[in-house]
Amino acid sequence: MADPRPVGFFDSGVGGLTVLREVLRRLPRESTIYLGDNGRAPYGPRPDEEVIHFATECLDHLASRDVKAIVVACNTASAVALGELRRRYDVPILGVVRPGATAAALATRNRRVGVIATQATVRSRAYFGAIKDENPFIEVYEHATPALVPLVEAGSLDGAEVEAAVARSVAPLLGRHGPSTGIDADAVFPLPAGERIDTLLLGCTHYPLLGEVIARAVGPGVAVIDSASATASALASLLEVQGMATDRTAATHVQLTTGDVDGFRRTSDLLFGSLFPSVESVEVLPLAATGQRGGEAA
Ligand code: DGL
Repeated sequence: MADPRPVGFFDSGVGGLTVLREVLRRLPRESTIYLGDNGRAPYGPRPDEEVIHFATECLDHLASRDVKAIVVACNTASAVALGELRRRYDVPILGVVRPGATAAALATRNRRVGVIATQATVRSRAYFGAIKDENPFIEVYEHATPALVPLVEAGSLDGAEVEAAVARSVAPLLGRHGPSTGIDADAVFPLPAGERIDTLLLGCTHYPLLGEVIARAVGPGVAVIDSASATASALASLLEVQGMATDRTAATHVQLTTGDVDGFRRTSDLLFGSLFPSVESVEVLPLAATGQRGGEAA
């Protein structure tokens, strides 16, 4: 039976809009509700319990709006909280780690994949396990790149500061070091000497917003992969299999943020033009009330 209810999307901020963009291309008739927890981003430096707590609060909100499925369009929440979220809700919940891992495992020819992601995602080893599940012969080199999410959340998507941050972030996966990268030769590298990756997986949904800068930094010999289009395909299959695809022609889209509405709208306009006329504010516990523990985690 066709189901006209919207699909819910959640991310710590604007990054999940890169997944939403692919879903709208692939499933233009589906209605959507997107919730970005920009007021408490970034999630990456936070302890697991805090990520689970924040993600649960956001999904409670989406579930209260009668969504038919939820896409956790955040690698950090997918890596750390997906099991708990699936236990809590009856609606089907898709994460972005497995689709991204599958896409990267299919893309690599030399069976060497680099993954850049937040600290919490790297700590979880979720990508390591998911890529190994696809093909145990692939070597997976993960590297946490905490500088990138705050840049994207602030709307900085190009320019000298972004180029430098991206160059520093990917250098350890390319075996590059030295004064131009700001990484000293004695630093511990995720990539053993003599190894070379041919695929870089963007293990954070914010990073495709820096996609062109990242592609330039890694050069033409490395395929840059993200989880957006594989996640859109997974959602299409899910709706098809469950008989939940809509038969309506006019989709409606709602965007919600716990943070600054104008900042959110700027990124949304960049990705979608005028498709989303308004962005609404949603209240969650302010950071002060949660103890602001984000900075303490590694
Ligand atoms: N888009 C989130 C992810 O994919 C960013 C996490 C963060 O807020 O640090 O992990």
